Amino acid sequence: MQDTEQIDLNRIPRHVAIIMDGNGRWAKQRGHERSFGHQAGAETVHIIAEEAARLGIKYLTLYTFSTENWNRPSEEVAALMSLLFESIEEETFMKNNISFRIIGDIAKLPANVQERLQACVEHTSANTGMCLVLALSYSARWEITEATRQIARLIKDGTLQPEQIDSGLISQHLATNFMPDPDLLIRTGGEIRLSNYLLWQCAYSELYFCDTYWPDFHAEELRKAICDYQKRERRFGKTSEQIK
Ligand code: IPE
Ligand code: IPE
Ligand code: MG
Repeated sequence: MQDTEQIDLNRIPRHVAIIMDGNGRWAKQRGHERSFGHQAGAETVHIIAEEAARLGIKYLTLYTFSTENWNRPSEEVAALMSLLFESIEEETFMKNNISFRIIGDIAKLPANVQERLQACVEHTSANTGMCLVLALSYSARWEITEATRQIARLIKDGTLQPEQIDSGLISQHLATNFMPDPDLLIRTGGEIRLSNYLLWQCAYSELYFCDTYWPDFHAEELRKAICDYQKRERRFGKTSEQIK
């Protein structure tokens, strides 16, 4: 396992997005209910948030609950919602100077969860360290559909001309408009797919897939992903010679 010594602290990805997958299988492997895996996964969120802040990552965007996850058995959805309510630890954020934000169709969440999340967003908004973003009731297609609606309204009321639409304008209407695109996208749990996460924003992100189930994805696993990222050459369509 590589350690922090090998990470170039001058080339830390600004924005790391993570698809936290594998909680259910982690629990099953241990003969437990899926919700046991979600509980363990919530602890990993705190460990990884602290480590990311320590490393100097500016934005950490965690895929926490997708639009499609509403279709899971109602008991599992309910367990996830109560876990969400219980595991918002404002003290950890304050201690680490982390500001907390949420993206997604928040109105779909239970009222008590919405209030709890909103309070945490407000209380941590002046923190100047890392921004921790939870994607909740989120999917990229939901987000792009919403952005399209907003832009269509601007055109309808005459504030915008179709010719003025460019990729920058579209980005401005996405839920992620306050942060840069992810430099690195990590998916734990062994699946090699994006599951409707940040599809527009990850157009040029470096992708990192690992088999580790999310509850076992600890600080050293994050450092390993960053070391791997730092070995890559990001060309953005240019040639290697142009980059050097
Ligand atoms: C990720 O773990 C957490 C959520 C999607 C809410 P899973 O619950 O998808 O775990 P697996 O993939 O079934 O193991
Ligand atoms: C993606 O995981 C969503 C989150 C991690 C919140 P899933 O477990 O829902 O993804 P699929 O269904 O296997 O693609
Ligand atoms: Mg899964």
